[in-house]
Amino acid sequence: MKILGIETSCDETASSVVEFNKNQIKILSNIISSSMDFHAKTGGIIPEVAAREQLKYIIQVVNEALTKSNCQPENIDAIAVTVGPGLIGSLLVGVETAKTLSYVWNKPVIPVNHLFGHIYANFIGKEQKDILFPSLALIISGGHTDLVLMQKKGDLQWISGTRDDAAGEAFDKIGRLLGLPYPAGPIIEKLAAKGDPKKFKLPRPLIHEDTLDFSFSGLKTAVLRIIQRIEKNDKTLDERTICDLARATQDAIIDVLINKTFKAIKQYPVQSLIFGGGVSANETLKASFQNELLSKSPAINFFTPEKVLCTDNAAMICAAAAIYNNPTSWENIEANPELYFD
Ligand code: KG4
Ligand code: ZN
Repeated sequence: MKILGIETSCDETASSVVEFNKNQIKILSNIISSSMDFHAKTGGIIPEVAAREQLKYIIQVVNEALTKSNCQPENIDAIAVTVGPGLIGSLLVGVETAKTLSYVWNKPVIPVNHLFGHIYANFIGKEQKDILFPSLALIISGGHTDLVLMQKKGDLQWISGTRDDAAGEAFDKIGRLLGLPYPAGPIIEKLAAKGDPKKFKLPRPLIHEDTLDFSFSGLKTAVLRIIQRIEKNDKTLDERTICDLARATQDAIIDVLINKTFKAIKQYPVQSLIFGGGVSANETLKASFQNELLSKSPAINFFTPEKVLCTDNAAMICAAAAIYNNPTSWENIEANPELYFD
């Protein structure tokens, strides 16, 4: 079965062709065009700008996905599309494109929850039996931080999420305070490697509380206070201080993620831990989890998607579509910006 995927929930316009057989999900093409450069200048995503950019590139991106996979529309069995959650203007571009192609090509649409896509990115290129169940998924993206229990493929149970900012959002907002372009996560990771871990200590919100919920907005306020203190003393943020604050930010976010995930592992006896979402591209975070697993739960297998599949892409949308395989008539497909774990 071959699936053409479309993903436009935020600032990436992505399309992919994926081949799915009983045991494997294989990528034939994976095209991603991003309007990140626009947002880098403004320090964050402007939804209107994101949607306009999506419109400009969507046809080109879909065409390229077909060409690179050596597929014609008649070779495609279904069109998978992200229907939510995300920015409504951006989502509509992908959803309306999928519906139009479905009508013209006479192929069904498979509606996909973007968050499920981040989870199933882990199944791409692996033998389906590799990931043992039950599995705990940690979704860490720009918009979400969620712990999800997977009893088996297609059976997801939401456990907890963030009460305010998501992990990626914390990286991005703190990056903005530090004068870094959007998305700040990968830049903070680089700067943190040069930072002094003892220079600044940021709070670890909710880690002593008996909850699996996350909270990250306090980190941003704490960094703002430090910057205000520095500026009050007539000093400007020099490069070394930016690296130290980047280090403190990354350390705090990693500590909180580890604390909550291992609390969840105590409550839910899982056989594997999987990551999904842009923040899972962070090598320091992965290494910290790996170490923690080795010392606390060595029997648990750990999986993260390949780097390009951590951030938004359409191959992960195809992967989720292949697993749920619920072909739907285009008339019944609608964008839903508030879609969550139902
Ligand atoms: O999954 P994603 O591409 O989009 C959403 O669904 O939100 O995640 C984007 C987020 C951004 O907040 C970005 O700063 C963060 O992932 N990110 C990182 C890294 N790479 C991307 N955060 C920390 N370290 C990274 N290396
Ligand atoms: Zn995402």
